[in-house]
Formats: sequence, structure tokens, C-alpha cells
Amino acid sequence: MKGVILAGGTGTRLYPLTKIINKHLLPVGNAPMICHGIEKLRIAGIKEIVLVISKQSAGLYTELLGGGKEWGVRLTYKVQEEAGGIAQALSLVESVLEPKEKFVVLLGDNLFENSLAPYVKAFQEQEAGARVLLKEVKDPRRYGVPILENNKIVSIEEKPDQPKSNYCVTGIYMYDTSVFGKIREVKPSDRGELEITDVNNEYASEGQLIYDVLDGWWTDAGTFESLYQASERFMK
Ligand code: G1P
Repeated sequence: MKGVILAGGTGTRLYPLTKIINKHLLPVGNAPMICHGIEKLRIAGIKEIVLVISKQSAGLYTELLGGGKEWGVRLTYKVQEEAGGIAQALSLVESVLEPKEKFVVLLGDNLFENSLAPYVKAFQEQEAGARVLLKEVKDPRRYGVPILENNKIVSIEEKPDQPKSNYCVTGIYMYDTSVFGKIREVKPSDRGELEITDVNNEYASEGQLIYDVLDGWWTDAGTFESLYQASERFMK
């Protein structure tokens, strides 16, 4: 199975830290943010990894990570030329995958404690559809929030004012190549981006969106506060 880390974007919430360097290269504890995701995939046995990066910091990524040898993985890069949303970034990896291949996607600013191995194994055994990891959070309004019924996700509401559960959909997603057809079907949102939540809702509407609740701590690191908290956790 291959892994994909989405590490583009402009990181406006962390400005001016992100004025001259991409968010995913900022330090988190003892390493640049991107290295934590690579390590988590490697530990789960996923050693072929595609990084989707922004044009702005492409040279820094290759200088830091090269082909991945030092990190025990094989890296390839895709450059996201414009900020078109998570689903648009994901569409760039279609050409790197085999027909029907399954893969794991991480948003590069999602940081977490535990191994992904059990969830990846469950997805390998899953017959069809997609799989996402959920986490209980204090302020679900910041995230995609799942509506759960009979152990299934029936739909996801993106940043709802009145969340229908205390769970968020983390940026840890598992798909097969059917996802690319679904990305082609979704329309840009009000902010002009192809939203991953709309793609996941296509699976949900077919009854094909399975979930697990991630064990251990999880945080994104897209704001000053969460970046600070993530750093502290990786120093312990
Ligand atoms: C994105 C997704 C959201 C998800 C979150 C996890 O939001 O759209 O559904 O819960 O990542 O980090 P963003 O952080 O891009 O606002």
C-alpha cells in the first residue's frame, strides 16, 4: 500500500511563520512537521510515499528529504500549483497509483500518537469503500463532524454551527482509486475549493464510509495554539 501526505496549502492561519516557509516544514518538537507523518506511515509498513507539496517550498522539501533514503522510505513529489483544496491536491496523485490500488492519505498538519497499523490492516481487509478515522474533540465546530447511525457515517457536516456529535473527522483517510472518479464529480465549494468532505459524503451516501476511532492523542497543527501543543507532545 502507498501513502500520500498532503503538504501544500498556504497556511494563512500561521502567518507570518508561513510567509517564507511552508507550514509542514515548521518545527514540531524535535523535527519538521512533515517528518512526523512520514515516520507514522513508515511504522505502519508504508514505505512508498507521495508528497504533494507547494511550489513555494519545493526546493526545501527535496533538500530536507531527498528520495527518502535517510528516512527509510521512498519518496516521490507532486507539486500543487494553486490552492484548490484538499480534494484537488489529492487528485494529483492519480497517475502514481495502480488501478484499484488502496492507499492512505494524511493531511500533513495532523499529528498523533499511535500507530496506524491496526487501521491500515482493517482497511486492507475491507471489501469496498473508504475508511476514515474519528476523534472526540472539545470544539467540533472547527472540523468536519460526522453524523453517526448504527455504527456508520451517514454524512459529514463541514464546520457546522451546531455539531451533531463530539467527533471530528481527522485528516487520516483511506481510499482506493475509486476516489478519483468521486473527486471529478464534486463541485467547488463557496470558498472555491474541492472539499474532501464532499468526496467523503459521496461514499457516505452509498453506505460505503467506514470509520474507526483513533486511539491516543491527536491534534492538527494549523493554528498557533495547536502548533504549540503539538510541539510539547513531541518533546515528551
Ligand atoms: C480539514 C477538513 C476537515 C477535517 C480537518 C482535520 O479542515 O476539511 O473536515 O476535520 O481538516 O484536520 P481544515 O483544517 O483544512 O480547515
